[in-house]
Amino acid sequence: MLEHLDRLSPDPILGLMAAFRADTDPRKVDLGVGVYRDDRGDTPIMQAVREAEREVLERQTTKTYVAPAGNPAFNDAIGQLVLGDGHAALAGRLRAVQAPGGCGALRLGAELIRTAVPDAVVHVSTPTWANHVPLLSNCGLKLERYPYFDATTGGVAFEAMMGALDALPARSVVLLHASCHNPTGADLEDGQWREVLSVMRRRSLLPFIDIAYQGLGRGLAEDAFAARLMCAELPEALVAVSSSKNFGLYRERVGALLTLSETGAAADAALSQLVRIARGLYSMPPDHGAAIVARILGSGLRGQWEQELASMRERIAQLRAETVRALAGTCARRDFSHIVRQRGMFSYLGIDKETVHRLREQHHVYMTDDSRINIAGLRHENIPYFAEAVARAVG
Ligand SMILES: Cc1ncc(COP(=O)(O)O)c(C=O)c1O
Repeated sequence: MLEHLDRLSPDPILGLMAAFRADTDPRKVDLGVGVYRDDRGDTPIMQAVREAEREVLERQTTKTYVAPAGNPAFNDAIGQLVLGDGHAALAGRLRAVQAPGGCGALRLGAELIRTAVPDAVVHVSTPTWANHVPLLSNCGLKLERYPYFDATTGGVAFEAMMGALDALPARSVVLLHASCHNPTGADLEDGQWREVLSVMRRRSLLPFIDIAYQGLGRGLAEDAFAARLMCAELPEALVAVSSSKNFGLYRERVGALLTLSETGAAADAALSQLVRIARGLYSMPPDHGAAIVARILGSGLRGQWEQELASMRERIAQLRAETVRALAGTCARRDFSHIVRQRGMFSYLGIDKETVHRLREQHHVYMTDDSRINIAGLRHENIPYFAEAVARAVG
């Protein structure tokens, strides 16, 4: 039966990881994989996570099942983290379901949309995170694109984006990156989000907000601005939350889908559908990471976690500034200043595929073919080497 399966080529990012591991040059730089790294190049376990994990293990008395919707304390805490002070006012119309990571939350949201409106179209930004495409379309939803990135400024092509959104048919779904846009790092300003809100309202569009980097851009509240605004002002919204990056819990698979419905009864119906969908996909989400997040957010560990997150955010901002300064020194003919205006872990370097390959083959600098770099993959001491390598590869 299985003999007719086609063998697929490896996922480009996994291929890049393998090539990096096999490279024995001590100067090698990995800017490919989207995980936070510290100044030693490690992806450490946060101290608040270590402590919460210890407390969770000490207190746990059973390993019996939790529920398809996951840990209620986590669901409540994550709703509050994302929606802030507005959370209590929305409680009657808001429901939360724990999911296996932000990916699981995106897939749950897609399945819910497909259940509600089988021929719904989801509009994603050009470009968007590569995994959005299978996560949203594998359940049968149609995907279309709206313009987003302006390669000449390194910012958002806001007019083009607004023009496209304003032409969408009512009841279209729009996937929005709340902050730290992956892969470009180009984010909307608060005033621009207000304009997006008015077009969403005017055209009766459903926002599907992906928030995977809360706290790694401008701050916990600032990075949630779009999610808070849309949920406060619109009758319906979906928010896919990931705790992978801001808690450093990647492999524990922690995330949540928040649904905002027009009425309490509609919210309960959405929740019941999500429970059915979860049962059919993976039955129940893993508990460990969610228990850690619930412990941190519901205890004195929260302050420590916020501090650790702030130092990660500040380190990324410093690396951005240093990188721009170094590139200005080595590549005076090109302007890389957009990197300092962008937010979160990613930026587009804005070089072509051939140059990306030259960087890899001749200088041991690894990034995806679209020239997305993970800023957190740089270190103070290798920024000069990186800037020199870029200058040589660009020519
Ligand atoms: C934009 C975006 N959304 C969602 C996710 C989901 O992450 P995870 O499933 O690891 O929580 C990621 C991870 O890289 C991401 O970059």
